Amino acid sequence: PIPVIIDCDTGVDDALALLFAVRHPGLDVRAITCVAGNTDVDGVVRNTLTVLEQAGAPGIPVARGAERPLIEPVRVARHVHGADGMGDLGLPAPTRRPVDVDAVTLLRREILASPRPVTLVPTAPLTNIALLLRTHPEVVGNIERIVFMGGAVETGNATPVAEFNVWHDPEAAAVLLTAGVPITMYGLDVFRRVLVPAADVARLRASPEPSLRMAGALLAHRDPATSGDPTPTGGLGDAGAVCAVIDPAGLTTAPLPVEVALAPGPTRGQTIVDRRPRPGESEHHHGPRAQPLVDVALDVDADRYTHLWLTTVEGA
Ligand code: BDR
Ligand code: CA
Repeated sequence: PIPVIIDCDTGVDDALALLFAVRHPGLDVRAITCVAGNTDVDGVVRNTLTVLEQAGAPGIPVARGAERPLIEPVRVARHVHGADGMGDLGLPAPTRRPVDVDAVTLLRREILASPRPVTLVPTAPLTNIALLLRTHPEVVGNIERIVFMGGAVETGNATPVAEFNVWHDPEAAAVLLTAGVPITMYGLDVFRRVLVPAADVARLRASPEPSLRMAGALLAHRDPATSGDPTPTGGLGDAGAVCAVIDPAGLTTAPLPVEVALAPGPTRGQTIVDRRPRPGESEHHHGPRAQPLVDVALDVDADRYTHLWLTTVEGA
């Protein structure tokens, strides 16, 4: 199996990602690290531990990470993810606690200890990952790839042009994009499109298995008409980024320069994806490009990822 670490802000769709990751036999989830985003970091830790217990995977180490972005204040998304950050489903409180080291320490330890290079899957603001890269740059040698949910080629959600995870900590995203490891950007353009049909959601909600009932409730809980939710009803959201680790051929990507807008004002947090022809192919280019290339997801076989997620979590 592929060794992975998920860095999340659970989070309705982060929960769907975790459920998939721990159930897929092709993934070895070595750790889960938590960061402030959809809700405060202690809420993220609680939600993450609850999801793992519901999923029957109570042994995976979970660490508490950054409680605020590098520069910005915390701006949680309660209007999207509910007062508890995970849809207010009334799930039981977790029975265990996070490990007694912080997220950056756990990330370093697990990355360096892995016999095979680790794939990192951030589905949240990138604060923990930026702190890791700056504090322990030696981890880069044992990172296979970073597949992150964040950014947008086209329209944003937190602002007209910025996606929430990048907007919440733009400086951290800029650190990630210059990490010097292969990166896949699973942005809003594809994130929005992977949906579970209503009939499948209804089947999950009626399941005798608590984790599947939880998944059904998470998929059903929001009304996009009133919530302004980035994930439409039935949307797998962050879970699609984990599908992309298992089945990269379901994505259409292109290696493109990506830059985060950091200046204050209406563009802050935008991912500017340069889709102009390559230098040398155009008479209009102005010298070599400074930005590293990122494998940007431009299209997704949505039905393929929905099928992969459903058959994995339902054990079919
Ligand atoms: C991202 O922000 C959060 O609301 C979701 O969990 C997802 O990671 C979408 O912009
Ligand atoms: Ca998330």
